[in-house]
Amino acid sequence: MLSSQETIDLFSKYVIPNYTRYPVALVRGEGSWVWDAEGKKYLDLFPGWGCNLLGHCPKPVVDAVIDQLKTFIHAPNSWYMENQGIWAKMLSERSFGGKAFFCNSGAEANEAAIKLVRLASVKPKYKIITFEGSFHGRTMGTLTATAQPKYQDGVQPLLPGFVYAPYGDLEAVRNLIDGETAAIMIEPVQGEGGVRVPPEGFLQGLRSLCDAHGLLLVFDEVQTGCGRLGTWFGYQHFGVRPDAMTLAKSISGGLAAGAMLTTAELAPALRPGMHASTFGGNPIAARAGIAAIEMIESQGLLKRAVEVGDRFRAALRTFQKECDIIREVRGIGTMVGVELDIDGTPIVQSCMENGLLINCTHGHILRLLPAMTMSDAEVDQGVEMLIAGIRRQMGK
Ligand SMILES: Cc1ncc(COP(=O)(O)O)c(C=O)c1O
Repeated sequence: MLSSQETIDLFSKYVIPNYTRYPVALVRGEGSWVWDAEGKKYLDLFPGWGCNLLGHCPKPVVDAVIDQLKTFIHAPNSWYMENQGIWAKMLSERSFGGKAFFCNSGAEANEAAIKLVRLASVKPKYKIITFEGSFHGRTMGTLTATAQPKYQDGVQPLLPGFVYAPYGDLEAVRNLIDGETAAIMIEPVQGEGGVRVPPEGFLQGLRSLCDAHGLLLVFDEVQTGCGRLGTWFGYQHFGVRPDAMTLAKSISGGLAAGAMLTTAELAPALRPGMHASTFGGNPIAARAGIAAIEMIESQGLLKRAVEVGDRFRAALRTFQKECDIIREVRGIGTMVGVELDIDGTPIVQSCMENGLLINCTHGHILRLLPAMTMSDAEVDQGVEMLIAGIRRQMGK
């Protein structure tokens, strides 16, 4: 096996440097633990950037995928595939009873939703309202939906037809609606934007605006979906039903996959030939997706997601009382944000050096997306290591 440095050397020479990477090569994962090429073990509180909600290498998913690999790896969408059908049924039955389009990533799922909005809306309606601080992906369409100039600078012109509202400001949204507005698109809880939970009644208010003006409500559930908030989908936590929702990240237990679900009434707008994804809903992703749903149900993991997240937040709030650099501890289910008064980047670095993996977004918000499979002992260990990291930064 290559050392971390040998792998880094390969990247320096052969891989486009569009990511900022930690100087470590990870080689193995199990549950909430990962190992680097030198054999060092890390507790991973940000497994797979949210893709490994079931932990690394969850056995039911691994077993299903191995079996599928031996049977049929790929079939194009010009054929019917049993597993894709079963997967769509399982997602539909756990959400609003609609239909699914399958793809491979969050950006692709959101592109499908954007196209659905345009195809399902009566002209001249085409505009979509999104929110400051949102994150919807890096394709040109989803990048335009992502109302963050830092990701857009230099690649303009962007896709026409997106307008941005301040997050949580219902009045501003109302003022943006005009005769060309077709939809509102939002993450039920902003993830990359800093684990921002919507103000009370905000999502309900958006639903009412959509109903009053004949707009579609699209929820980007790439991060909040598939059990992360303790309900199958984030919209169920808030009791606000979207017209379409997008999923990816953990949908297939860590394998690359995505989906856009919409109501049976809207689904025909994506008529034959109007959208496609070669690998979308392939037999491997579908088997993994089915296994992920079955694992969550058979192991009672929706309930566990709430317990894990609440345990993190309770312990961190206790620490907050003696730590004046923590402004707020927030989140729902296994989305945990710790907003600091200081730069969080050195804390991430120091935690990593000491065997703990976390994330920091917007410079000062520590972000955890822990696996719903964590034991209480692992949560407690994670909290202890995180607090030690914060203390080191405070010089205490
Ligand atoms: C809410 C949300 N939407 C979309 C995306 C984009 O997903 P992907 O990187 O799979 O394209 C992300 C990625 O972090 C996300 O958090």
